[in-house]
Amino acid sequence: MVDDALSEIRRIVGEQHVISGDDTAAHVVDWTGRYVGTTPAVVRPGSTAEVADVIRVCGEHAVAVIPQGGNTGMVGGSVPLNGEIVLSMQRLNTIGNVDRLALQVSVDAGVTIEQLQTAVASHGLRYGVDFGGRGSATVGGTIATNAGGLNVLRHGMTRAQVIGVEVVLGTGEIIDLMSGLVKNNTGYSIPDMMCGSEGTLGVITKARLRLIADQSFRQTALLAFDNVDAAVAATAQLRVALPGLEAAELMLADGVGLVCEEFELSAPLGGTHPVFLLVETASESDDLERLIQHVVELDGVADTAIAADERQRQLLWRLRDDHTTAINRVGVPCKFDVTLPHDQIAAFIPKAKNLISALAPTSTTWIFGHVGDGNLHVNVTGLDGEDVLDKSVYELVIAMGGSISAEHGIGTAKSAYLPMQRSAAELNLMRGLKAVCDPTGILNPSVIFDQ
Ligand code: FAD
Ligand code: MLT
Ligand code: ZN
Repeated sequence: MVDDALSEIRRIVGEQHVISGDDTAAHVVDWTGRYVGTTPAVVRPGSTAEVADVIRVCGEHAVAVIPQGGNTGMVGGSVPLNGEIVLSMQRLNTIGNVDRLALQVSVDAGVTIEQLQTAVASHGLRYGVDFGGRGSATVGGTIATNAGGLNVLRHGMTRAQVIGVEVVLGTGEIIDLMSGLVKNNTGYSIPDMMCGSEGTLGVITKARLRLIADQSFRQTALLAFDNVDAAVAATAQLRVALPGLEAAELMLADGVGLVCEEFELSAPLGGTHPVFLLVETASESDDLERLIQHVVELDGVADTAIAADERQRQLLWRLRDDHTTAINRVGVPCKFDVTLPHDQIAAFIPKAKNLISALAPTSTTWIFGHVGDGNLHVNVTGLDGEDVLDKSVYELVIAMGGSISAEHGIGTAKSAYLPMQRSAAELNLMRGLKAVCDPTGILNPSVIFDQ
């Protein structure tokens, strides 16, 4: 079955674009090293038409497919855990001309976020979603996961940037919604539906994206606090006082200490504070005075460092961006990406830590995140077995009014727990959509829905 499909696929994409054996290594393990699979082949189509033909052949032969972008996803959705074919989108990497009237750009799904940012920067523009994985994460993958990142509190998640998509359904049909019309209320919004669909409804081949002015005056400050409550309250105050606030990132002393140790950076602000908030504004004129004035007015700030130049700004951001890499160096982490109501964030942290250390006494818990969005990343290293924590952590999150997936998606990691959060009616609706878009069930069959 697979062999017959692959013979046809070789004719479609060319022999050299069907990879097998050792050459598939980078495509079968996820970024964290937690999810490891095998695949008969990695297929690298070079056009939308080729994607459509490959999908049609896979449907005819009932061969399952994992669409893959940069393979930076955090929930085990981008790797072939059940021997699926990997459909790598990396050859679809063209960036169209920037539409300066509409402030939009059309890009292929395999373009990375960094490539996109670089291409639009020369027009004084920027893409509203950005995060530490920018060098590898692709436009298609970020749409599929509805990625959030560092600037959600000002610009929204990926869904807010996507005006249109071109997508190949599980039937092999191509849907082209790339007109760029911002206002287009003609029935259900298919681009919205594709955001967060995690490759289960269709393969995104192109996207029409909103761009924003790149406000060149950036001010970046690291604030130290004695407790998380004060950092949460300060975030709320700054969001009101500073309309240009782009980022508010929470870090704790252990995580910052780990990053400094792993990357030989100096401990910030004397290294004695338990809680840090990294804030950044972007505006069209110099906001420094305003930032200082409002920081001074905040309650509970124990100390402050303001970046004086781009080098210092990069150093402050490394403290945050390098958390994920530093934690991975400690060991393969178990990751919880959760949202809490803002008034529960401070209470959640000790509750989660206590719960995890009771269930897994030899583990270490690292917590940081996008506090402006109520989004905490709980990473646990040093676990002996699999899944000893998941159900209990998700029960805690739900009991506190939160969500078990903030920005990474469900993937295969959380599929068993989705019914804890979504009703039977909601799941039926989702399965119904899946059945229409992918009637033979070949697209990411183990993602989102528990088998
Ligand atoms: P992949 O990992 O290849 O795939 C992810 C999912 O999308 C899979 O289910 C896959 O099947 C599907 N998919 C991929 N491409 C397509 C396509 N063209 N059509 C249909 N389905 C497709 N995420 C955040 O939200 N915020 C962060 O701040 C953040 N920080 C990160 C920092 C680091 C250092 C890293 C490594 C990751 C981070 N992430 C973050 C995770 C993030 O979800 C992914 O990086 C990104 O959204 C996935 O893009 P990708 O191209 O790597 O997709
Ligand atoms: C981040 O914000 O750095 C990633 O989304 C988080 C993670 O590693 O869990
Ligand atoms: Zn994140």
